[in-house]
Amino acid sequence: MMGEPLHTILTERLGCRWPIIQTAMGWVAEPSLVIGSSNAGAFGFLGAAVMTPPEAREKLLAVRRGTDKPFGVNFHSFQPGADAIVDLILENKDQVRAVSFGRGPNAKMIGRFKDAGILCVPTVGAVKHAQKMVELGVDMVNVQGGEGGGHTGSVPTTVLLPQVLDAVKVPVIASGGFADGRGLAAAMAYGAVGIAMGTRFLLTKESPVPDSAKAEYLKASTDGIVVTTKLDGIPQRMVRTKLMDRIEKSGEIGLWLRAFEASLAMKKQTGASWLGLIKAARGMTAHGAMPLKQAMMSATMPMLIQKAVVDGDIEQGVMATGVVGGRIGEIPSCQELVDRIVAEAHERLASLAALGREPLPASAPVA
Ligand SMILES: Cc1cc2nc3c(=O)[nH]c(=O)nc-3n(C[C@H](O)[C@H](O)[C@H](O)COP(=O)(O)O)c2cc1C
Repeated sequence: MMGEPLHTILTERLGCRWPIIQTAMGWVAEPSLVIGSSNAGAFGFLGAAVMTPPEAREKLLAVRRGTDKPFGVNFHSFQPGADAIVDLILENKDQVRAVSFGRGPNAKMIGRFKDAGILCVPTVGAVKHAQKMVELGVDMVNVQGGEGGGHTGSVPTTVLLPQVLDAVKVPVIASGGFADGRGLAAAMAYGAVGIAMGTRFLLTKESPVPDSAKAEYLKASTDGIVVTTKLDGIPQRMVRTKLMDRIEKSGEIGLWLRAFEASLAMKKQTGASWLGLIKAARGMTAHGAMPLKQAMMSATMPMLIQKAVVDGDIEQGVMATGVVGGRIGEIPSCQELVDRIVAEAHERLASLAALGREPLPASAPVA
């Protein structure tokens, strides 16, 4: 469409209709969600960072069966079988348009993706990290402000986004706290080429999270969402549940016991060796330098999240969320969500363009 304000470098390069990314979330960004978001005109990332290579293959092929749209894959280069996952992504370069990752890939790995025409779109939570990634050759950066779900920094999106926009020359995507078209219009006003959302897509019909857990997410208000360092030593945002309260209060022995129990369960499920688990854990977090307990907890975090978002067991599992979870009150389909965001962003952008020429209509809050 000529003059379509929502057609940006993001839609052009990623090949999606709207500048909206469904981010990777372990156990949540599964084929059903990637298919739902991509078919709705957004760009979905398959969360392969918690998958074994055979699982990643099966799920990637499931996405291909469900959509002919381009999509992305998230992984981290320290996970067991990372090389096989990279090969899998490269084999599917006709439809896998982008990869996302946190720390990890070196310039050589990024070069392999670029040679295959696959865009590298890492998520960054700090200016320095954004600059480092750009030096390594990535194509765009997704800036996640402190509001975001999962591991999170302390600088809010409103501060970090302009800082990163000033610091790098590649296109920048905004994430952390977005759920609606007002947010998309605001991100674009900052100079971002689009938004990326985790929590908002977790609470859609196509998200595989059991209804019982979705209902618990809907109940959480913004003051029922906490940041904890007790899970793996790195700040993470969670819905405050009875389990979270207990974890927050637990002392050193309790934390060790939990790390050990969760490691055992993880070992059983993945067949990984103890050494493999610890190696994966060390790689997963900043610079790999951390005490053993923290490394074990970090490797086992997915198990705790899985209990809630796969089994729907919020007595034994933790519910990662962004602050924005506190203002989400319903479960639309991906198509309903994307259509609503697009309509609202159009309305906001048109209102801004008309500023000074006619009275500004009141915005209708929609989460
Ligand atoms: C339940 C949940 C699981 C997540 N898992 C991952 C993950 O495995 N890898 C990752 O890079 N980010 C993960 N994230 C972060 C999201 O990809 C995304 O950056 C974040 O949710 C954006 O903030 P928002 O929730 O405010 O939209 C997770 C977030 C949530 C809510």
